[in-house]
Amino acid sequence: MQKIKEIKIPGYEKVFEIINPEANLHCFIAIHDSTLGPALGGIRMYPYKTPQEALQDVLLLAKSMTYKSALAELGLGGGKCVIMGNPRQDKTETLLLAIGEAVDQLHGQYLAAEDVGMNPEDLLVIRRKTSYVAALPTDKSSGDPSRYTAHGVFRGIQAVAQKLWGNVSLRNKKIAIQGLGHVGGRLAALLFWEGADLLISDIDVNLVKNFEHFYGAEIIPPENFNKVQCDILCPCAMGGTIDEASLSALNCLAIAGAANNPLSQPILAEELFKKGILFAPDYVINSGGIINAACEFRKGGYDPKLARDKMNQIYDRLLYIFERSEKEKKSTYLVAEELVKYNLKHHIGQRKGTLETH
Ligand code: NAI
Repeated sequence: MQKIKEIKIPGYEKVFEIINPEANLHCFIAIHDSTLGPALGGIRMYPYKTPQEALQDVLLLAKSMTYKSALAELGLGGGKCVIMGNPRQDKTETLLLAIGEAVDQLHGQYLAAEDVGMNPEDLLVIRRKTSYVAALPTDKSSGDPSRYTAHGVFRGIQAVAQKLWGNVSLRNKKIAIQGLGHVGGRLAALLFWEGADLLISDIDVNLVKNFEHFYGAEIIPPENFNKVQCDILCPCAMGGTIDEASLSALNCLAIAGAANNPLSQPILAEELFKKGILFAPDYVINSGGIINAACEFRKGGYDPKLARDKMNQIYDRLLYIFERSEKEKKSTYLVAEELVKYNLKHHIGQRKGTLETH
């Protein structure tokens, strides 16, 4: 028996806790804001220690999704789902089908996609129970979002280079990547071919060895990542890795990576601004994947050229934010947040008509 309980959280439209003992499922779905369209966001499976930790994560992630879609004017709102469990041991077909049922019961208020701990094949299982799933590996859908996220982060790093050095060249720039997974791994390749000198860190020893060999990269032990001397620090693992304690040890000119909520608290963006470290707000630089997924909700299905062109706007959007931050003497985070709030207030980019799922 699947039990769905609504939890009232100020600032959020709807938050649900779903428990299904037969399927070994305990998850949370948060819908942060659907002013501009239905809430789209990935499903994350992670071994959270407590339900409170999972709830905290889903709330932060859902809000980030609102911000990403609002800024990129995708006609979508922000939502997220987190499942408590270790994807390597606990991800079963029964659990995925139970998630599909839960998503379906929300009748399209929440559209699911993949996130950490999920892959496109898992989404195909979920799709058997609900059509409210995006980024599937099928004809009309947009497929794995991480290649677009990686390319979007790459364009964001070029915007950082433009701001720091007056041109987009990354030749001999030291770029430190934390996490060589779906996004970080692809990004490493893109940066390598642009001439960057890579420093890499991952808890997966085999992965780092591989990248060291093929990209001439220097391995950084995970515990030393934040203090490594580099030009651009690129967090592409989990969120919250930069906290008050690690902030004083930072030895970089800029932070620009894929991880959602890399700062343990948004207020740390003010500290980065004071220290003169250029911060590319996560919900701007990592929006390539959601931009790509948004390009499938059309009559004929997914349009890759539209996705590419919209994803490339990440470069201009970030440069605009960097310039305003300098001119108005405000952190980049604050400037980006003001742009989000403006779009929400004035319904900029709001979806007109119905959304086609595939
Ligand atoms: P992934 O699960 O494929 O890769 C994460 C990598 O980080 C793994 O190789 C893992 O071993 C490593 N890792 C975990 N903890 C670490 C630590 N303490 N130190 C060093 N490495 C560590 O995840 P994916 O898809 O590459 O996503 C990476 C980040 O980007 C996540 O925060 C995700 O939320 C965010 N993101 C991903 C998007 C996508 O399209 N996949 C879209 C937007 C954001």
